[in-house]
Amino acid sequence: MADDLPLALAPTDPRWLAVALADLDAVHRDHLHCERKAAQSALSLVRSYPERAELVAAVARLAHEETAHVVQVSQLLARRGAVPAYDLGDEYAAALRDLIRKQEPARLLDRLLVFALIEGRSAERLGMLGAAIPDEATGALYRALATAEDRHRDTFLELAADIAPGEWRARLDELCAQEAAIMARLPLRPRIH
Ligand SMILES: [Fe+2]
Ligand SMILES: [Fe+2]
Repeated sequence: MADDLPLALAPTDPRWLAVALADLDAVHRDHLHCERKAAQSALSLVRSYPERAELVAAVARLAHEETAHVVQVSQLLARRGAVPAYDLGDEYAAALRDLIRKQEPARLLDRLLVFALIEGRSAERLGMLGAAIPDEATGALYRALATAEDRHRDTFLELAADIAPGEWRARLDELCAQEAAIMARLPLRPRIH
Protein backbone atom coordinates (compact mmCIF):
# COMPACT_ATOMS: atom_id res chain seq x y z
CA MET A 1 0.00 0.00 0.00
CA ALA A 2 1.18 3.51 -0.71
CA ASP A 3 2.47 5.37 2.34
CA ASP A 4 -0.33 7.89 2.11
CA LEU A 5 -2.99 5.19 2.44
CA PRO A 6 -2.50 3.87 5.97
CA LEU A 7 -4.65 1.02 7.22
CA ALA A 8 -3.32 -0.47 10.43
CA LEU A 9 -5.56 -3.42 11.23
CA ALA A 10 -5.09 -5.18 14.53
CA PRO A 11 -3.51 -8.55 13.67
CA THR A 12 -5.74 -11.62 13.59
CA ASP A 13 -5.56 -13.82 16.68
CA PRO A 14 -2.94 -16.40 15.61
CA ARG A 15 -5.12 -19.22 17.00
CA TRP A 16 -7.58 -18.59 14.15
CA LEU A 17 -5.25 -20.23 11.63
CA ALA A 18 -5.29 -23.63 13.37
CA VAL A 19 -9.09 -23.45 13.61
CA ALA A 20 -9.32 -22.70 9.89
CA LEU A 21 -6.82 -25.35 8.81
CA ALA A 22 -8.72 -27.97 10.85
CA ASP A 23 -11.80 -27.52 8.63
CA LEU A 24 -10.68 -26.09 5.32
CA ASP A 25 -13.81 -27.16 3.48
CA ALA A 26 -15.87 -25.02 5.86
CA VAL A 27 -13.54 -22.11 5.14
CA HIS A 28 -13.89 -22.57 1.39
CA ARG A 29 -17.68 -22.84 1.64
CA ASP A 30 -17.80 -19.56 3.55
CA HIS A 31 -15.26 -17.99 1.24
CA LEU A 32 -17.47 -18.63 -1.82
CA HIS A 33 -20.09 -16.33 -0.30
CA CYS A 34 -17.52 -13.76 0.81
CA GLU A 35 -16.45 -13.34 -2.81
CA ARG A 36 -20.07 -13.16 -4.00
CA LYS A 37 -20.93 -10.56 -1.38
CA ALA A 38 -17.84 -8.53 -2.26
CA ALA A 39 -19.09 -8.35 -5.86
CA GLN A 40 -22.60 -7.44 -4.74
CA SER A 41 -21.38 -4.78 -2.31
CA ALA A 42 -19.28 -3.17 -5.03
CA LEU A 43 -22.23 -3.16 -7.43
CA SER A 44 -24.48 -1.71 -4.73
CA LEU A 45 -22.38 1.45 -5.02
CA VAL A 46 -23.29 1.66 -8.72
CA ARG A 47 -26.95 1.55 -7.74
CA SER A 48 -26.52 4.33 -5.18
CA TYR A 49 -24.10 6.66 -6.98
CA PRO A 50 -24.58 6.28 -10.75
CA GLU A 51 -23.62 9.93 -11.28
CA ARG A 52 -20.07 9.35 -10.00
CA ALA A 53 -18.48 8.05 -13.19
CA GLU A 54 -15.03 7.43 -11.74
CA LEU A 55 -16.41 5.51 -8.79
CA VAL A 56 -18.72 3.49 -11.04
CA ALA A 57 -15.83 2.44 -13.28
CA ALA A 58 -13.57 1.52 -10.36
CA VAL A 59 -16.12 -0.54 -8.43
CA ALA A 60 -17.52 -2.22 -11.55
CA ARG A 61 -13.99 -3.43 -12.41
CA LEU A 62 -13.58 -4.58 -8.84
CA ALA A 63 -16.89 -6.46 -8.95
CA HIS A 64 -15.74 -8.14 -12.14
CA GLU A 65 -12.66 -9.44 -10.30
CA GLU A 66 -14.71 -10.59 -7.33
CA THR A 67 -16.95 -12.51 -9.70
CA ALA A 68 -13.87 -14.21 -11.13
CA HIS A 69 -12.93 -15.12 -7.56
CA VAL A 70 -16.35 -16.72 -7.11
CA VAL A 71 -15.55 -18.93 -10.11
CA GLN A 72 -12.14 -19.83 -8.68
CA VAL A 73 -13.47 -20.74 -5.25
CA SER A 74 -16.34 -22.67 -6.81
CA GLN A 75 -13.81 -24.67 -8.84
CA LEU A 76 -11.73 -25.23 -5.70
CA LEU A 77 -14.75 -26.67 -3.88
CA ALA A 78 -15.46 -28.95 -6.84
CA ARG A 79 -11.83 -30.11 -6.98
CA ARG A 80 -12.00 -31.04 -3.31
CA GLY A 81 -15.35 -32.77 -3.70
CA ALA A 82 -16.77 -30.34 -1.13
CA VAL A 83 -20.48 -29.61 -1.38
CA PRO A 84 -21.20 -25.85 -1.34
CA ALA A 85 -23.60 -24.57 1.28
CA TYR A 86 -26.02 -21.71 1.70
CA ASP A 87 -24.72 -18.49 3.19
CA LEU A 88 -24.68 -18.68 6.98
CA GLY A 89 -24.60 -14.91 7.30
CA ASP A 90 -21.67 -12.80 8.38
CA GLU A 91 -21.86 -11.19 11.82
CA TYR A 92 -18.56 -9.45 11.16
CA ALA A 93 -19.74 -7.63 8.05
CA ALA A 94 -23.14 -6.96 9.62
CA ALA A 95 -21.52 -5.34 12.67
CA LEU A 96 -19.38 -3.18 10.41
CA ARG A 97 -22.36 -2.19 8.29
CA ASP A 98 -24.09 -0.99 11.47
CA LEU A 99 -21.36 1.62 11.81
CA ILE A 100 -22.23 3.26 8.49
CA ARG A 101 -23.85 6.65 9.05
CA LYS A 102 -27.23 7.18 7.40
CA GLN A 103 -26.90 10.68 5.99
CA GLU A 104 -25.01 11.56 2.82
CA PRO A 105 -22.22 12.35 2.15
CA ALA A 106 -21.06 10.59 5.35
CA ARG A 107 -22.82 7.44 4.20
CA LEU A 108 -20.72 7.11 1.04
CA LEU A 109 -17.50 7.74 2.95
CA ASP A 110 -18.39 5.12 5.54
CA ARG A 111 -19.39 2.55 2.94
CA LEU A 112 -16.06 2.97 1.16
CA LEU A 113 -14.08 2.74 4.40
CA VAL A 114 -16.01 -0.28 5.68
CA PHE A 115 -15.47 -2.05 2.35
CA ALA A 116 -11.75 -1.18 2.60
CA LEU A 117 -11.61 -2.70 6.09
CA ILE A 118 -13.32 -5.89 4.93
CA GLU A 119 -10.94 -6.17 1.97
CA GLY A 120 -7.96 -5.56 4.24
CA ARG A 121 -9.06 -8.15 6.79
CA SER A 122 -9.84 -10.65 4.04
CA ALA A 123 -6.42 -10.07 2.47
CA GLU A 124 -4.71 -10.69 5.80
CA ARG A 125 -6.54 -13.95 6.42
CA LEU A 126 -6.30 -15.22 2.84
CA GLY A 127 -2.57 -14.49 3.06
CA MET A 128 -2.29 -16.48 6.30
CA LEU A 129 -4.06 -19.39 4.61
CA GLY A 130 -1.92 -19.02 1.50
CA ALA A 131 1.24 -19.36 3.57
CA ALA A 132 -0.02 -22.35 5.57
CA ILE A 133 -2.19 -24.54 3.34
CA PRO A 134 -0.10 -27.61 2.50
CA ASP A 135 -1.59 -28.22 -0.96
CA GLU A 136 0.53 -26.17 -3.36
CA ALA A 137 -2.19 -25.24 -5.87
CA THR A 138 -4.61 -24.16 -3.15
CA GLY A 139 -1.93 -22.20 -1.33
CA ALA A 140 -0.99 -20.41 -4.55
CA LEU A 141 -4.64 -19.55 -5.20
CA TYR A 142 -4.99 -18.05 -1.73
CA ARG A 143 -1.81 -16.03 -2.09
CA ALA A 144 -3.05 -14.64 -5.41
CA LEU A 145 -6.44 -13.80 -3.92
CA ALA A 146 -4.77 -12.06 -0.97
CA THR A 147 -2.85 -9.83 -3.39
CA ALA A 148 -6.07 -8.95 -5.21
CA GLU A 149 -7.92 -8.09 -1.99
CA ASP A 150 -5.03 -5.87 -0.91
CA ARG A 151 -5.41 -4.00 -4.18
CA HIS A 152 -9.17 -3.71 -3.64
CA ARG A 153 -8.56 -2.27 -0.17
CA ASP A 154 -6.42 0.42 -1.78
CA THR A 155 -9.05 1.12 -4.43
CA PHE A 156 -11.65 1.81 -1.75
CA LEU A 157 -9.22 3.94 0.26
CA GLU A 158 -8.33 5.97 -2.82
CA LEU A 159 -12.01 6.56 -3.56
CA ALA A 160 -12.57 7.59 0.07
CA ALA A 161 -9.61 9.97 -0.01
CA ASP A 162 -10.95 11.43 -3.22
CA ILE A 163 -14.46 12.18 -1.98
CA ALA A 164 -13.55 13.34 1.55
CA PRO A 165 -9.92 14.51 1.54
CA GLY A 166 -10.16 16.33 4.86
CA GLU A 167 -12.10 13.70 6.74
CA TRP A 168 -11.32 10.19 5.60
CA ARG A 169 -8.20 9.54 7.68
CA ALA A 170 -9.76 10.41 11.02
CA ARG A 171 -12.87 8.41 10.19
CA LEU A 172 -10.72 5.47 9.07
CA ASP A 173 -8.93 5.50 12.43
CA GLU A 174 -12.27 5.40 14.25
CA LEU A 175 -13.60 2.56 12.13
CA CYS A 176 -10.31 0.66 12.44
CA ALA A 177 -10.61 0.72 16.22
CA GLN A 178 -14.20 -0.44 16.02
CA GLU A 179 -13.26 -3.21 13.60
CA ALA A 180 -10.66 -4.46 16.08
CA ALA A 181 -13.29 -4.54 18.82
CA ILE A 182 -15.67 -6.52 16.58
CA MET A 183 -12.91 -9.01 15.72
CA ALA A 184 -12.06 -9.41 19.40
CA ARG A 185 -15.60 -10.31 20.41
CA LEU A 186 -16.34 -12.77 17.59
CA PRO A 187 -15.52 -16.45 18.14
CA LEU A 188 -12.65 -18.09 16.25
CA ARG A 189 -14.31 -20.11 13.52
CA PRO A 190 -13.36 -21.94 10.33
CA ARG A 191 -14.57 -18.97 8.29
CA ILE A 192 -12.92 -16.03 6.60
CA HIS A 193 -14.25 -13.61 9.23
FE1 LIG B 1 -12.12 -11.37 -3.94
FE1 LIG C 1 -11.81 -7.93 -2.95
